[in-house]
Amino acid sequence: MADRRIVAMPGDGIGRIVLPEAIRVLAATGFEADYVHGDIGWELWCNEGNPLPQSTIDLLAEHKVGLFGAITSKPKDEAAAELSPELQGQGHIYYSPIVGLRQLFDLDISIRPCRSFPGNPLNFVRKGAGGQIEEPMVNVAVFRQNTEGLYVGVEWTDPPEEVRRAFEMHPKFAPFKDVPGPDLALSTRIFTRPACRRIVEEAFAYARRHGYRSVTVCEKPNVIRETSGMLEQEARAAAEKYPDIERWSTNIDAQTMWLTKNPEDYGVILSGNMFGDIISDAFAGLVGGLGFAASSNVGREVAIFEPTHGSAPKYAGLEPSIVNPIAMILASAMMLDHLGEEERAASIRGAVGKVVAEERVRTYDLLKIPGGASVIEKGAATTQQMTDAIIESLATAG
Ligand code: IPM
Ligand code: MG
Repeated sequence: MADRRIVAMPGDGIGRIVLPEAIRVLAATGFEADYVHGDIGWELWCNEGNPLPQSTIDLLAEHKVGLFGAITSKPKDEAAAELSPELQGQGHIYYSPIVGLRQLFDLDISIRPCRSFPGNPLNFVRKGAGGQIEEPMVNVAVFRQNTEGLYVGVEWTDPPEEVRRAFEMHPKFAPFKDVPGPDLALSTRIFTRPACRRIVEEAFAYARRHGYRSVTVCEKPNVIRETSGMLEQEARAAAEKYPDIERWSTNIDAQTMWLTKNPEDYGVILSGNMFGDIISDAFAGLVGGLGFAASSNVGREVAIFEPTHGSAPKYAGLEPSIVNPIAMILASAMMLDHLGEEERAASIRGAVGKVVAEERVRTYDLLKIPGGASVIEKGAATTQQMTDAIIESLATAG
């Protein structure tokens, strides 16, 4: 038995396909661990009314490190409609279990590296001043505050009287004071100073450790003054301890506009929960998209690593499987970094880079063709062939 236990939570759909592939790559690096299965996902919701069972929570509390595949998430009403008949009408409300895990274990830091692999046909290209094609190499690490902001879940339609009264204390609530309860929906955006401080400190420390020139706070303090403002304040304070790193500020809207103009200029990007969700997908789109986007969820004790993509149910049943396992494999490399296994992590990234650059083995996304059963006859690699190529490359990347 290995010394290390990892909780493997494949979840739904293609999560069940890509997670075992990542474990194959981990094993091929010589990393030794036992993988304990943790149940999570849509089937549990439909059959038990809870997508995140206590047994999985207990496993994570015990072993501290988890690999997560993907889960199907649906809006509240659609989710309720899919509950098994005997559970209907009992007040079960669907909450995304990954959001639940982030909050339960206070996994407050999410790091989402968005880095171009040279030669990736999915890399962003643009036209230069003379009409020439430029392919800027993007190397951004998004730091997303992972537990607060609009994700706290403090929200109501038809808020209770006390809540209404509290809101009425604010002069800006005046235009809404006569709105009937059922016509009034409130979702609150909560930031706390300790959480802002922690992510800011982590972001600057990461920038220094990894040689980034700047930390950009990407929020909207000109409008959302209190919450965005608090993150800005904390960043300003932290920056004083990091004279070697420039502190920049951008607004989320302008940042998405500049995304395609000068993405190579940015280093660490620091955002609250919602804007971090958005900007991390936006940058991921420049470096290969969902097949390449991995993220960490790191708290003081527990950490979970996942590909950013969803469960893609329409591809889950295809035999052979066609989905790109790279995002999950890169997530497992992030796990190795977290466990102090930086060399093995680097070897995985090196092997992925080599396979991508060689363009010999390409899943359908890398061929830029629509997904479906027919991609294999069009020359696409299967999920397993892609993993095999990466494993082969590990051996030669040395
Ligand atoms: C992500 C995802 C999740 C989020 C969803 C699945 C709830 O988009 O990890 O970025 O919004 O955080
Ligand atoms: Mg997202």
